[in-house]
Amino acid sequence: MKAYLTDPNVPGGIRAQSVAEPVAESQQALLQVSHFSLNRGELMFAQAGAAHRPIGWDIAGTVLHSPSGGPPVGSRVVAFSRASQGWAEQVAIPLADLALIPEGVSPSQAASLPVAALTALYSLERGRCLLGSRVLVTGATGGVGSFAVSLAGLMGCEVVAQVRRPDQVEGMRALGAHQVVVDEDGEKVAEAGPYRLIVDGLGNRLTSRAIHALSADGIAVIYGATDRQQLELQPGFLLGTGTGRVEGFNLYRQSEIESVTRGLQRLLKLVAQGRLQVPLEQEVDWDQAPQLAQDLLDRKFAGKAVVKV
Ligand SMILES: NC(=O)c1ccc[n+]([C@@H]2O[C@H](COP(=O)([O-])OP(=O)(O)OC[C@H]3O[C@@H](n4cnc5c(N)ncnc54)[C@H](OP(=O)(O)O)[C@@H]3O)[C@@H](O)[C@H]2O)c1
Repeated sequence: MKAYLTDPNVPGGIRAQSVAEPVAESQQALLQVSHFSLNRGELMFAQAGAAHRPIGWDIAGTVLHSPSGGPPVGSRVVAFSRASQGWAEQVAIPLADLALIPEGVSPSQAASLPVAALTALYSLERGRCLLGSRVLVTGATGGVGSFAVSLAGLMGCEVVAQVRRPDQVEGMRALGAHQVVVDEDGEKVAEAGPYRLIVDGLGNRLTSRAIHALSADGIAVIYGATDRQQLELQPGFLLGTGTGRVEGFNLYRQSEIESVTRGLQRLLKLVAQGRLQVPLEQEVDWDQAPQLAQDLLDRKFAGKAVVKV
């Protein structure tokens, strides 16, 4: 079968190759992949390391083979390939990492959800008493950021979205942001606080400033380090807040607490009801995946991108 494998020497860091078909173990379903979505994290992985490694977390497709208790053969499912093997025609997935796609949700929408939307959902759920609370989403145009803006709105938060350019403001308003701050160094973001919760994927100077705009019981959840800068924290600040916290988030660890199936079911229901928007920006055919990957790395578009297999 065909699959994309890593190759740091080509655009996008991926190259289509012929590989052996996977064999499902017990408690795994074998899926025919119809769509996959791209995340910055896996593309960084593709560009950084050795060639010829499998890649791909987020997939949608149909069930070819299922163990007892699994989804029926032929049913539509979305899955998180924890082993990062999803950008292929077929993949074997543990039952705990997939969910049935309900009526009214397209495979492209479903394939956009696993890593980005689960990260947004669980990062927000680290917050307490969020109804009516001010929540900052940094990097709000990103895959995770876009879902965090929409989900925070659904949770009844007063959502502040940080973007880098004025032309990104309207898109954030459309996702439900109550205030959009155009800022790169964190000064305006700090002025717009205090925040009960900060959901951050930047890891830079802006993050450092935002943390100092937490309310006394505020929590900053750092799920990414897109900018990879040293964070600066005034030692007295968190002491002064009393219960203020800075926490890391990791989807692999979090999915040990709630199964991917359950998290995806919660998100899929919201999409089916038309309450959660999927910020699907690009949809291309198999052969265009390397260019799409490079465009995502070059930040040529915002939101999610899907490849049809
Ligand atoms: N811990 C986990 O489990 C987990 C899960 C998912 C993702 N992540 C990590 O989270 C990060 C974001 O993921 P993603 O998929 O949302 O990425 P993405 O779609 O590429 O979004 C990146 C966001 O950061 C902004 N940005 C990029 N470079 C910036 C800079 N130098 N200064 C300020 N803003 C900048 C972008 O703004 P523009 O639109 O203006 O370019 C965009 O809003 C990645 O590092 C990823 O590896 C971690």
